[in-house]
Amino acid sequence: MPRWTAELVTKLAQLSGQLALSVENADSVAEQLARGVGELFGDCCTVLLRDDPASTRMRLSSMWHPVPGLAKAVREIYEMQAPPSSYDLAGRVLSVNEFVLIPEVSSGELDRLFPEAFRELAAAHPIYSWLVVPVRVGDRVEGALTLGRLRPDEPIDAEEAAFVQTLADHAGLALCNVRLQRHERQARAEAETRTAELATACQELEAFSYAVAHDLRGPTRTIEGLTEVFLADHGHGLPEEGLDLIGRIVASSRHMAAVIDDLMKLSGVSRRELTRRPVRLSDLARAILSELQLKEPDRVVSTRVDACAPFDADAGLMHLAFENLLNNAWKFTRGREHAMIDVLIHESEVGLELEFRDNGAGFDMAYAAKLFTPFERLHRRSEFEGTGIGLATVDRIVRRHGGSIRGEAVVGHGARFFMALPRA
Ligand SMILES: Nc1ncnc2c1ncn2[C@@H]1O[C@H](COP(=O)(O)OP(=O)(O)OP(=O)(O)O)[C@@H](O)[C@H]1O
Ligand SMILES: [Mg+2]
Repeated sequence: MPRWTAELVTKLAQLSGQLALSVENADSVAEQLARGVGELFGDCCTVLLRDDPASTRMRLSSMWHPVPGLAKAVREIYEMQAPPSSYDLAGRVLSVNEFVLIPEVSSGELDRLFPEAFRELAAAHPIYSWLVVPVRVGDRVEGALTLGRLRPDEPIDAEEAAFVQTLADHAGLALCNVRLQRHERQARAEAETRTAELATACQELEAFSYAVAHDLRGPTRTIEGLTEVFLADHGHGLPEEGLDLIGRIVASSRHMAAVIDDLMKLSGVSRRELTRRPVRLSDLARAILSELQLKEPDRVVSTRVDACAPFDADAGLMHLAFENLLNNAWKFTRGREHAMIDVLIHESEVGLELEFRDNGAGFDMAYAAKLFTPFERLHRRSEFEGTGIGLATVDRIVRRHGGSIRGEAVVGHGARFFMALPRA
């Protein structure tokens, strides 16, 4: 046993540390183990590994010998010949899962351990003591370490053997790490491939729905146009009931045209590239509210919009999102004598928090989960018109900016939409 000097303890600690960090591949673990143990004891050390868990065969992964060039010479012979029978011992540790120690190797045994091709080298650098230690990963033996003592007067003892076993167990943990890392890399690569496939599928689907919506636009407008022409030319001869039916056809095709336009806007949100530039969101909100007031000058709506500094966002998309939210607030406060719409803005280092608040019809929170799903509406069309795509569009826009949105309301007491936009 080497003397327990401070240097030895330091070397040991270093070797354990290196093994713990060694996550590259199994051969690099074997290399560190063979060199570390070999240098520590001044003995010839090899590490054999099992590549195939289903087979008991092991291959020479790494070898260290104190005589320069000898490890290379042994490896060359090893690669040309069948593995030396000394490695059969490694096979034995596979089954018993414990180290095998031959404290004194007799010359007959030396001949048995090393076949013809190795004998010359073995005679020039005889091995006096032989140890084979299993390299375990959990309760499985994944390899073996062999230690050949080159000094005749210091046979390997059981204490040394137990000590080498501890180092081999550390290497086993490192192998386990290597495997986990490999699995993780594989899983990550698979996840990346899947995500890319999914993104492509989404793009295709988006392109398809855009194309369908686009192609439906023409015929819908034609139905609406032709019906209007029909009404103008032949409407006077129609009975009341007929006129009513034609009126309903026109209303339906107008609604269909609105749905198609909204669908195209929705898919446009995902299709177009996000171009961020400083936008004054408070100005945006004020402009939209003034436009709404212009369209319905008779309505009395008190508004409040907090001021905020320019914020990096896609101006076009943000306009679309704000327009949808404020249109909703405007629409659902329609019945209020004193309608109120506020846009509260809180700026922080993280980003912006906005609250769109109104005192309109509100909605039932039991259905809040449906708010941002296309075509889901929480009010009847006879009560409040709409296609049910607005909030889905808002949600997509906010998410494309890395943010989030949620809604809260009390039936009859107004709604609040909270939008969080992180800084880019
Ligand atoms: N401010 C609000 N107050 C009350 N209910 C709201 C409010 N905003 C949205 N909602 C509810 O959420 C539903 C979905 O809103 P969304 O904007 O997606 O659709 P919409 O306004 O009906 O139609 P459009 O696609 O034309 O905007 C609305 O139909 C309504 O029931
Ligand atoms: Mg809407």
